[in-house]
Amino acid sequence: MYIEFNHTEVVFQQPVNHSPASDDTLLEVRGLAKQYLSKNHTIAVFDNIDLQVRPHEVICLLGASGCGKSSLLTTLAGLQTANAGEIRFAGEALNKPDPRLGMMFQDPCLLPWLNVRQNISFGLTLDTGPKFCKVELKQKIDTGMQWVGLQNSADAYPSQLSGGMAQRVSLARALVRNPDILLMDEPFSALDAITRLGYARITIEADCRSPQRGSVGHPRYRRSLDFG
Ligand SMILES: Nc1ncnc2c1ncn2[C@@H]1O[C@H](COP(=O)(O)OP(=O)(O)OP(=O)(O)O)[C@@H](O)[C@H]1O
Ligand SMILES: [Mg+2]
Repeated sequence: MYIEFNHTEVVFQQPVNHSPASDDTLLEVRGLAKQYLSKNHTIAVFDNIDLQVRPHEVICLLGASGCGKSSLLTTLAGLQTANAGEIRFAGEALNKPDPRLGMMFQDPCLLPWLNVRQNISFGLTLDTGPKFCKVELKQKIDTGMQWVGLQNSADAYPSQLSGGMAQRVSLARALVRNPDILLMDEPFSALDAITRLGYARITIEADCRSPQRGSVGHPRYRRSLDFG
């Protein structure tokens, strides 16, 4: 599948075996367009984007800096509105943030007054998501810290973390929510090449390794990745 961003080609889509008759599309995007209004002019960032995400697919957006990858991901996440087109999740129109879609931002966006453990738990305590008891919450956070190798930094604050560590907290924060679709914006940019490969694998395998998987009840897991 290819998506065009202002002359920049884009997407790698992992082939997935689906029966042609099955219609298990989770995320469906049709004719999506986004413009930003500047003082004197309009910036057309992307236009006429069509995209389908089906179970177990990994989709990569590739493109030059400034071509609109982050804008597309934040629009899909419902954090800004599109100027045209529609986004549907499991057949329903989607036009605001939804806990079934997780987002890992290009910047780790950690809350500086919260330590690693509290930053990871932040997304689990939002009103929009499912409610967890203390024991479940602790288990999820501990698992998240294990995934990203930060068990020994649970009490550290963002100012005490390296760039790569901050990015790993951000990854854990997104993964522990166990969203159906995880939108990741250059998730491993602060990691070295070898570590990056390891974490790419973790994100693909996380649902299989996670003890929470059955309790949350999402048998499927997909991710959209922007490797920049
Ligand atoms: N909130 C905004 N207001 C106005 N213009 C914006 C806004 N956000 C992004 N832009 C512009 O939209 C274009 C696309 O930006 P975006 O961040 O989506 O690119 P990108 O492909 O993610 O780039 P990079 O690879 O450098 O992260 C750029 O020209 C940018 O200046
Ligand atoms: Mg970007």
